[in-house]
Amino acid sequence: MPVRKSSTAFVVTENESIPVVDAHIVYIAEGQVEAAAAQLPQPLADELLSLKERGLFAAKAGQTELLPAFGLVPSRYVLCTGLGEAATPGALRAASVYAARALLARQLGRAAVRLEGGGANDWRDRTQAVAEGLLLGGYRMPVFRRAPEEATELREVALLVPPGEAEARRGAEDGLRLALAVAEGVNYARDLTNLPGNRLTPEGLAEEARALAKQHGLACTVLDERELAAQGMGGLAAVGGGSDNPPRMIALRYDGAAGRPGADVIGLVGKGITFDTGGISLKKPEGMEEMISDMGGAAVVLGVLHAVCTLRVPVNLVLVIPAAENMPSGRALKPGDVITSLSGHTIEVTNTDAEGRIVLADGITYAKRLGATKLIDVATLTGAVLVALADVATGAVSNDDAFLGELLSAAKSAGEKVWPFPNYPEYHEMLKSDVADIRNATSHRHAGSITGGLFIGFFAGDTPWIHLDTGGTAWLWDEKGTEPKGGTGAMVRTIVRYVCGEPL
Ligand code: BES
Ligand code: MN
Ligand code: ZN
Repeated sequence: MPVRKSSTAFVVTENESIPVVDAHIVYIAEGQVEAAAAQLPQPLADELLSLKERGLFAAKAGQTELLPAFGLVPSRYVLCTGLGEAATPGALRAASVYAARALLARQLGRAAVRLEGGGANDWRDRTQAVAEGLLLGGYRMPVFRRAPEEATELREVALLVPPGEAEARRGAEDGLRLALAVAEGVNYARDLTNLPGNRLTPEGLAEEARALAKQHGLACTVLDERELAAQGMGGLAAVGGGSDNPPRMIALRYDGAAGRPGADVIGLVGKGITFDTGGISLKKPEGMEEMISDMGGAAVVLGVLHAVCTLRVPVNLVLVIPAAENMPSGRALKPGDVITSLSGHTIEVTNTDAEGRIVLADGITYAKRLGATKLIDVATLTGAVLVALADVATGAVSNDDAFLGELLSAAKSAGEKVWPFPNYPEYHEMLKSDVADIRNATSHRHAGSITGGLFIGFFAGDTPWIHLDTGGTAWLWDEKGTEPKGGTGAMVRTIVRYVCGEPL
């Protein structure tokens, strides 16, 4: 499943009359319904005010109203979309997600948006938010029916800027470029996350990485099960050994700052468990199908790479994806096994369902050997993160407060929720083993997301490191707020922001 090019043609235009569209999208903040109505022809204004009076449209976030225009404006409909309290970029992005859904539900494929802004940066940020929201809201997961139904797409979007304002146009064009790259990255991550286990094996994930590398002219190396075992990747070999779909260690390199000696090399390590049965510590059957998303971390780092390459960001990245299928079999890892990781440290395996941290241990060590000077791992690591944060926020564990601070502020401006867990010495104690350097699971379930993260941090050592646990956020059972059902691509936007340096 290669990166799906966005099927939406955007134009930035000053000309009000050129685009013949199905709907004009109007963004309205709470308390501004009257002001918005005043901009519309009388019958439409009356309708909007009547909706407001009856308590049906207050311009809250998530509210949309499609008003038929009956020739009063040069489009068939006016789509009012609520911003909630204020027209921040985050509110514009969310309102655009809901607008896209409302348009597609009515099979309306052509839209126009009149943008507003202050300076060039403001124009850029607002345009990025609007275009990103429309592209993310238009996402549809891949389906595998014999006769897939035709679905309407958002085919054309005209972004209207005021005539003669070069700064506005430049800002809008910049924002549009950012939005396209980021949204393609997010939607690509969603696509990969949504692929079932039989359609995305470890070798399949390697194929994806090779295709992405080819598209962007990057180097990609894939170690097969024999090579990775020969190199001493005992964690990945052990977890992947139970499956007939053998493991792969995938590495990609992007040298965008090759001309800057001493520049950081950011290592992005993504958990690539293409299906997690739990292994011999087998999971219960109910809901196990969610575990098709256990390569969500790998999907995120590939989505980030696509965006970074498209935008030609001047940074150095190494991407590492330890890919495996966690299965029970006669060759599977067993509770009590002691294995030797790439770093030489031994791991006592007390639970084979805590497999992500084992493959990430080798992934982190490999990223360091490939030159990473800073590390971010992304992983659907624990169910415990759902207990702590529900599906609302991604949990973070780190060994470097300054680095973590930068990532949290990138998350904030990307509009994604990340919440840091503490890293106290007591939690490290819980991972002590009587027979090995470390054990992969504690004797109880307390602080499961922290100890899971810190297991990975053990292998990061002194290298600045952040762990992002997307166990609650990578995949949703149902559409929720602006996020779609299934794979969400959570953390692509945050990491792209971080990597670009702020402002994006
Ligand atoms: N992939 C799971 C974590 C997960 C569970 C993510 C549910 C999303 C939804 C991970 O490999 C796992 O099984 N973790 C165990 C760890 C435990 C055995 C220490 C868990 O969370 O139960
Ligand atoms: Mn597991
Ligand atoms: Zn897992």
